[in-house]
Amino acid sequence: MRLLVTGSRGQLGRALQHAAPGHGHEFFGYDLPELDITEPAAVQGAVASVRPDAIINCAAFTAVDAAEKQEAAALVVNGTSVTNVARAAEAVGAILLQLSTDYVFDGKADRPYREGDPPRPVSAYGRTKLAGERAAELARRHLIVRTAWLFGDGENFVAAIRRQLDAGAKTLRVASDQRGCPTYAVDLADALLRLLTTGAQGVIHAVNAGNATWFEFAQEIVRQLGSDVEVVPISTADAARQAPRPAVSVLDTSELRRILGSELPPWQDALGRYLREARHEHPRG
Ligand SMILES: NC(=O)c1ccc[n+]([C@@H]2O[C@H](COP(=O)([O-])OP(=O)(O)OC[C@H]3O[C@@H](n4cnc5c(N)ncnc54)[C@H](OP(=O)(O)O)[C@@H]3O)[C@@H](O)[C@H]2O)c1
Repeated sequence: MRLLVTGSRGQLGRALQHAAPGHGHEFFGYDLPELDITEPAAVQGAVASVRPDAIINCAAFTAVDAAEKQEAAALVVNGTSVTNVARAAEAVGAILLQLSTDYVFDGKADRPYREGDPPRPVSAYGRTKLAGERAAELARRHLIVRTAWLFGDGENFVAAIRRQLDAGAKTLRVASDQRGCPTYAVDLADALLRLLTTGAQGVIHAVNAGNATWFEFAQEIVRQLGSDVEVVPISTADAARQAPRPAVSVLDTSELRRILGSELPPWQDALGRYLREARHEHPRG
């Protein structure tokens, strides 16, 4: 398959670029500044020149807290611009794979969220990503993949914890009242490329197996790095972040398991691979 990937220098885009050849796909990556998805003509031009079989839209305004104060700007990237990508996909008969998030849910369910559960975002980021889901549906062939708590080659929670340890932090204070599914961009990329070859369409949840609070996630990072820094549980209110977040946004992955025949590896295993592989990473450029 010929894959056109937008936001190709982000965490997931990089993992896709690395994985695509192994799946027999040709990778055509675009990111800012050469392709801004808010510009319809630029999107159409890139799509017309590559003539992809699939477009994977990884471009996004991913700063969850910043989006609270810049919802209009986040909506342009995460919502309105997906229309540009969907139309361009439609023009060449490509499938659009649109990335979405567990933050489209309110976190009040008493079980993991299934694909058909009604989204009720509590944050600006979640609202704009939900708008992106709606826009992706403009492409006749579309696959909306909701993922969560990504870590890969880029800025993420694991990298932030490691930076604090490297800086000599004595204690880490981390929220223990939000639960979700930490997910390795490399494992997600592999799942997306496999999903594309199955011809799956609609909405699918894809995260590493298991779940954790941010506190438990931090404890495991510290443990795997062999540090004895104390991790102290705090409440979300004490963390004083701009954006409200769902309390429990664990995603049900039965559908992914049914289609691929297996679930993604446990997040602790994924974290171990990430920590080993990240040591050899090159700086972003
Ligand atoms: N990260 C998470 O925890 C998480 C969780 C759930 C879902 N997701 C979704 O998964 C997808 C991939 O996430 P990620 O972590 O790989 O994101 P990321 O690392 O933030 O990468 C996004 C990329 O998109 C680029 N971009 C921003 N605005 C653009 C525009 N107007 N046109 C073209 N490119 C643009 C960014 O460039 P700049 O860096 O220059 O802005 C960046 O390279 C996104 O759809 C995200 O919403 C992420």
